[in-house]
Amino acid sequence: MKPCLVFTLLSAAGVILARESEADKLNLPEDFTIPYMVYLQSSPEPCVGTLIHPEWVLTAAHCPLPVKIRLGVYQPSVKNKKEQIRNYSLTVPSPEFKAQSLENDLMLIKLSKAAALNSHVGTIAISMEPLAFNDSCFIPTWTWNEYKNLSDPDILTWINQYSLPLNDCQNMVGQIMAARIMCVGQPLNILSRTKEVSAAPAICDGRLHGILSWAKGSITLGSEGFFTEVYHHARWILKVINNS
Ligand SMILES: *[C@@H]1O[C@H](CO)[C@@H](O)[C@H](O)[C@H]1NC(C)=O
Ligand SMILES: *[C@@H]1O[C@H](CO)[C@@H](O)[C@H](O)[C@H]1NC(C)=O
Ligand SMILES: *[C@@H]1O[C@H](CO)[C@@H](O)[C@H](O)[C@H]1NC(C)=O
Repeated sequence: MKPCLVFTLLSAAGVILARESEADKLNLPEDFTIPYMVYLQSSPEPCVGTLIHPEWVLTAAHCPLPVKIRLGVYQPSVKNKKEQIRNYSLTVPSPEFKAQSLENDLMLIKLSKAAALNSHVGTIAISMEPLAFNDSCFIPTWTWNEYKNLSDPDILTWINQYSLPLNDCQNMVGQIMAARIMCVGQPLNILSRTKEVSAAPAICDGRLHGILSWAKGSITLGSEGFFTEVYHHARWILKVINNS
């Protein structure tokens, strides 16, 4: 696995797509996937998971437990033959997760059977260090063209964003919370009916740096998003993976 290479290719693709109109946006090969993106199908709403090890998915602790885990997915509303379907055998929310304030909003999910890694399904490394100042992050998620209750989303979309300086982040969420949060985006007044799947990853410098905890609007249209910073939890993540 070469996360840097994958990141570079995807960033390039993102830039090209961003310049095209919404209608042209899906002009991708039918079997296109972002290999580490995992679709956590659940009720009432799905989440994005990120494959960080053949047997482990990282997502947000606010997500419901998945009913079905799908790997190698491009459009969740469409089944494809290359998809891998799994259940979970273990779920481990961060012991520091606070449901009220959404602090430390991370959960590890162990797959019932390891993912078969190929060109459609692959892992991404977690970050062990804070993000360098003003680094660009690639943030993918799925959205619904038209949201219907309990339907699967049909669009894969993404944005490239710079992480905001700590000061700006503190102004938005307060000093204490900002200590373990990564902020992107800006206050926007966009009238959009776009609904996004929760727990999108932020891939910066080829590594998984954040998991989206909450947002003030549509993150893929540039609104403010607040990510749990993964590196603070890297030791806990490695400990769980090595001992479970
Ligand atoms: C998935 O695993 C959970 C926990 O082990 C179990 O309760 C559930 O019935 C399983 N679901 C399926 C579809 O096998
Ligand atoms: C971050 O980098 C981008 C691109 O290089 C630049 O446009 C922007 O002004 C930088 N932001 C800060 C706060 O330095
Ligand atoms: C969505 O579906 C769930 C489960 O069937 C139901 O409880 C809920 O009321 C529905 N919501 C809407 C807005 O239809």
